Amino acid sequence: MQLRRTFVEGMTGGLLGAMAQPGRALGANDRIRLGIIGSGAQGQALVRAATSCPDTEIVAAADVYTRRLEEVTALAPGAKTYLDYRHVLDDKSIDAVLIATPQHLHCQHFVASLDAGKHVYQEKTMAFTVAHAKRMRAAYQRAGRRTVQIGNQGCSQG
Ligand SMILES: NC(=O)c1ccc[n+]([C@@H]2O[C@H](COP(=O)([O-])OP(=O)(O)OC[C@H]3O[C@@H](n4cnc5c(N)ncnc54)[C@H](O)[C@@H]3O)[C@@H](O)[C@H]2O)c1
Repeated sequence: MQLRRTFVEGMTGGLLGAMAQPGRALGANDRIRLGIIGSGAQGQALVRAATSCPDTEIVAAADVYTRRLEEVTALAPGAKTYLDYRHVLDDKSIDAVLIATPQHLHCQHFVASLDAGKHVYQEKTMAFTVAHAKRMRAAYQRAGRRTVQIGNQGCSQG
């Protein structure tokens, strides 16, 4: 995965690149609005990388651990914080979500995000079980035109 050194280029070419129109300067109402589910160590790295991209903003964060929410608002001031990730998905103004929860929760958060119409960037490992992987594939297929990217820093760094 392209985190840290090359994440910006990776996101521009991947999730954010697919959503944005190249060469177009976005107005305030056209910026890509991101929410994050799971703002622990890797989630905060994603927030730092995403906020370094032009025309993007982190507008909401969900975590079950309040300390993590305090840390993420230090990185993304103004982001709304929630203990229940479903509030992020209920926000129609959010275009895409970053998912960095523990692996056994990936399926739940990935499927719910796509079902809510969001584009998704999710941390590895994609699925915890084969059954999870099948549910995630089905969610992607029924979502239609949604961009999904699974990050694996170990496979792409360097
Ligand atoms: N890209 C990479 O190479 C790379 C590197 C490190 C970690 N990761 C992946 O990132 C993910 C997170 O790892 P981490 O090291 O940041 O772990 P972490 O424990 O620091 O962060 C996970 C966060 O998820 C939160 N969480 C737990 N249940 C939740 C729920 N129901 N709703 C919302 N938030 C919830 C936790 O409170 C915690 O803050 C894992 O899947 C891990 O494999 C990927």
